[in-house]
Amino acid sequence: MLSEDLLIGNIHLKSRVILGPMAGVTTLAYREFMKPFGVGLSYSEMISDCGLNYKNQRTYEYLKTSDLDRPIGLQLFGYCKENAISAIEILEANAEYDILDINLGCPVTKVVKTGAGSAWLKDPEALEDYMRAICEKSTKPVSAKIRLGWDENSINVIEVSKRLENAGVSFLTIHCRTRSQGYSGVADYSIISKIKEEISIPVCVSGDIFTLEKAKEALEISKADAVMVARGGIGNPFLVTQIDHYLKTGEELPDPDVVQQAKWAMEYSQKLIDLKGEFVAVRELRGIVPKFFSGFPGYKKIRNEIAMNTNTQDHLFRLLRGIIERGNC
Ligand SMILES: Cc1cc2nc3c(=O)[nH]c(=O)nc-3n(C[C@H](O)[C@H](O)[C@H](O)COP(=O)(O)O)c2cc1C
Repeated sequence: MLSEDLLIGNIHLKSRVILGPMAGVTTLAYREFMKPFGVGLSYSEMISDCGLNYKNQRTYEYLKTSDLDRPIGLQLFGYCKENAISAIEILEANAEYDILDINLGCPVTKVVKTGAGSAWLKDPEALEDYMRAICEKSTKPVSAKIRLGWDENSINVIEVSKRLENAGVSFLTIHCRTRSQGYSGVADYSIISKIKEEISIPVCVSGDIFTLEKAKEALEISKADAVMVARGGIGNPFLVTQIDHYLKTGEELPDPDVVQQAKWAMEYSQKLIDLKGEFVAVRELRGIVPKFFSGFPGYKKIRNEIAMNTNTQDHLFRLLRGIIERGNC
């Protein structure tokens, strides 16, 4: 059991379940919805340091946080320290947040071809220099999110982890895949236990955390201090509660029923609509709301209806209320 609070720099986490950053998903609405389920720390979507430096209005939208949202880490990505340093000045002047996170794992070609995201893993020495400059500049604790390496022939996560600790990083999340694996293939947790012997900062394990069983397995194999819920939490927020509760008590909570899922889907939908407006939010919700019902037999038709045909809040909520009424009969 991992029952005590976790400390990142001077920030106390009340839970060791971390909400993973996901571009296009982990908006303020999503983070506020997920927090009460037992999230110890949330991360924003990745924020371009260039976007901040060029005063791009859409990039500034990512800086919105709230009291409920905290502790919150804002995640920057970029390819050089000058851009990062001026972006940190902008963050510190314009955003309320607790931890600065640096994205060193993004596999997307558009990002890595600039030298950002997981491209940093190819040059650990330059990475250490970059991260040292960031840690010196930031008044907040700095965390970093990495992968095992660029590809299976260049797994260098042990060296990179040591260099990041040397540079002043206070918390490290390891997505247990290489860049070339993208999001497929099985996450390999075993190497983290070796990293734990080499560094003393807390480490979070990420990759394939879709069930409580998987979270237990990842923590047991990796000996990590925390576990990250990313794709597994989309449409299954109670997974966070199940993991947090298990880590604190050793007890396993049963899965929620479909009525409860529909109520949570409505709550989340309302929050996203409030943040983004009906037109944009309902289109995004088509991809997310069906996931609340994916484990339930007999809900395929309604999942398809939500995914393909909902254009208004009224239509979406009528479908969700139908699930609640049917389930309560
Ligand atoms: C749609 C999507 C967007 C993501 N965006 C980010 C991101 O902006 N920054 C980041 O560090 N990781 C990002 N990730 C990686 C996740 O945080 C997580 O490490 C990864 O999905 C592995 O965990 P999982 O298999 O449990 O989902 C993203 C993943 C997905 C699926």
